[in-house]
Amino acid sequence: MAKRSENSPLLGGDSLIYNSKPKSNVRKNISYILNVVTLITIAVLLFHHPSKPETPQVKPHGKKNIIMMVTDGMGPASLSAARSFRQLRDKLPIDDTLVIDKYLIGSSRTRSSSSLITDSAAGATAFACGLKSYNGAIGVDPDKTPCGTILEALKLQGYMTGLVVTTRITDATPAAFSAHVDYRFQEDLIAQHQLGEYPLGRVVDLILGGGRCHFVPASNGGCRADGRDLVKEAVKNGWSYAGDRSQFDQLHGGENVSLPLLGLLANHDIPYDIDRQSEEFPSLAEQVKVALTALEEATKDSDQGFFLLIEGSRIDHAGHHNDPAAQVREVLAYDNAFKEVIDFIESTDVETVAISTSDHETGGLVTARQVSESYPDYLWYPQVLLNSTHSGEYLTRKIYTQKVKSGTKFADFIKQEILEKDMGITDYTEDEVKQIALKSSQPDALLYFLNNMISYRAQIGWTTHGHSAVDVNIYAHTNSPALLHKLKSRTAYDGLTGNHENIEIGAFMETITGSNLNKVTEMIRKMTHSPRDKSDLSTDEYHANVDYL
Ligand SMILES: *[C@@H]1O[C@H](CO)[C@@H](O)[C@H](O)[C@H]1NC(C)=O
Ligand SMILES: *[C@@H]1O[C@H](CO)[C@@H](O)[C@H](O)[C@H]1NC(C)=O
Ligand SMILES: [Zn+2]
Repeated sequence: MAKRSENSPLLGGDSLIYNSKPKSNVRKNISYILNVVTLITIAVLLFHHPSKPETPQVKPHGKKNIIMMVTDGMGPASLSAARSFRQLRDKLPIDDTLVIDKYLIGSSRTRSSSSLITDSAAGATAFACGLKSYNGAIGVDPDKTPCGTILEALKLQGYMTGLVVTTRITDATPAAFSAHVDYRFQEDLIAQHQLGEYPLGRVVDLILGGGRCHFVPASNGGCRADGRDLVKEAVKNGWSYAGDRSQFDQLHGGENVSLPLLGLLANHDIPYDIDRQSEEFPSLAEQVKVALTALEEATKDSDQGFFLLIEGSRIDHAGHHNDPAAQVREVLAYDNAFKEVIDFIESTDVETVAISTSDHETGGLVTARQVSESYPDYLWYPQVLLNSTHSGEYLTRKIYTQKVKSGTKFADFIKQEILEKDMGITDYTEDEVKQIALKSSQPDALLYFLNNMISYRAQIGWTTHGHSAVDVNIYAHTNSPALLHKLKSRTAYDGLTGNHENIEIGAFMETITGSNLNKVTEMIRKMTHSPRDKSDLSTDEYHANVDYL
């Protein structure tokens, strides 16, 4: 076998030294002259006793826009998968990256106060309040005392505020910035807080996402237990409302928005990007565009800018489902939204910073899987994800609601319609077809089975249907030299370069805006925020509501 050459590119930096040519005489002379010039320069500088170059200082109360972006459940492997998938799909070179890859600055440790593995509620409370709380906590500390959030603090300072998500707006991440309840499943109450029904009054100016369910009574297609119609009440109280794609389109990319705006574009989640019908649901990037345009316009004559939370919510769901075909498209949809934010930052004169990170990883995803007894080949197959044109969630519903559920007609439906057409799998076995038929009335089992067919063939591995404790990436961009300088500090509780606790992201936003979250906490700590205690719930109800997402 040939010995690996000393200047193999695999050896990285060493090969550069190995390859460098001896300096020529001309170069020697140039470097002599340069050295003399350097010495003279140093002497002159010493003579003048110059002060150090000025480091730009952050003006905490100056006008700023703060954009907090959360990729729920996106770990480092999600990026590797999405990047390779996109290179294959768009025939791009191997050094092509996602937009977000160019803005990597560090990583975040994610544990909560109650567990080494956090949930999204504790994860978002860490960003919003800058403190560790227990899994399930929405804007409350470990003693269940409400904690002031960065969104509330900035609203009180005169910022405009917004929340943009692809899941229910009452779900954990947006809730932790805009509500205070003991457990994330109290979504009826979260909806009330988000519309201003609590001591601070209304603090959110713009809402875009799914989750109409918890705003509308059961009698009207929603799921509120108290019979109230919060959408009707909101409109009466001066909110403008967008409840579907056509009303969203009337917002004209944010140029025809009257704030406050309540945009509830789906009853529950907005469909996965892989399933999304664009005539029915906007993309995350389109929602972000509306929010940025509307908030910029609303603050153009103000001394203060805006705070906007953006969440790529369903990367997490694809992780829970162990659905790699859906997940890579969710990551790419987020990357498009991220690009909207970068373009905005480049276009505005207002000091703006965007920080993008995950609350945790979901699924224990790895872009490798041993599928043989023998030592594995170093391969995984993005082609399999490209062939699959729907999520496991969509296909499960399609099979579950199929009228004919046995016999050759059903088997043909599974083979031709589901496996060949929707999933692009041609090498299925008769046993797999039988398994799908057997599971056709058990949605969870069917979902996992279908997604595993894809994962196995792609040689992608998952270690859990829940979350994991792996560190997640931090990305950032700003148009402000002072904020850039601050971001770049590696010191704990100062900058965000390098490895940090998740609560430092909250602390960072607090510092650069000169806000005081403790003061906000004083204003809300006495509010009754929890109609029900954990002890009122049956064990099943507790687990069903608290442990899942
Ligand atoms: C602007 O929004 C209003 C509702 O707030 C709507 O009636 C109007 O048609 C919209 N304008 C355009 C040009 O779509
Ligand atoms: C993708 O689908 C095509 C046609 O349906 C099929 O020939 C091919 O083998 C599939 N590729 C993979 C990796 O499954
Ligand atoms: Zn989750």
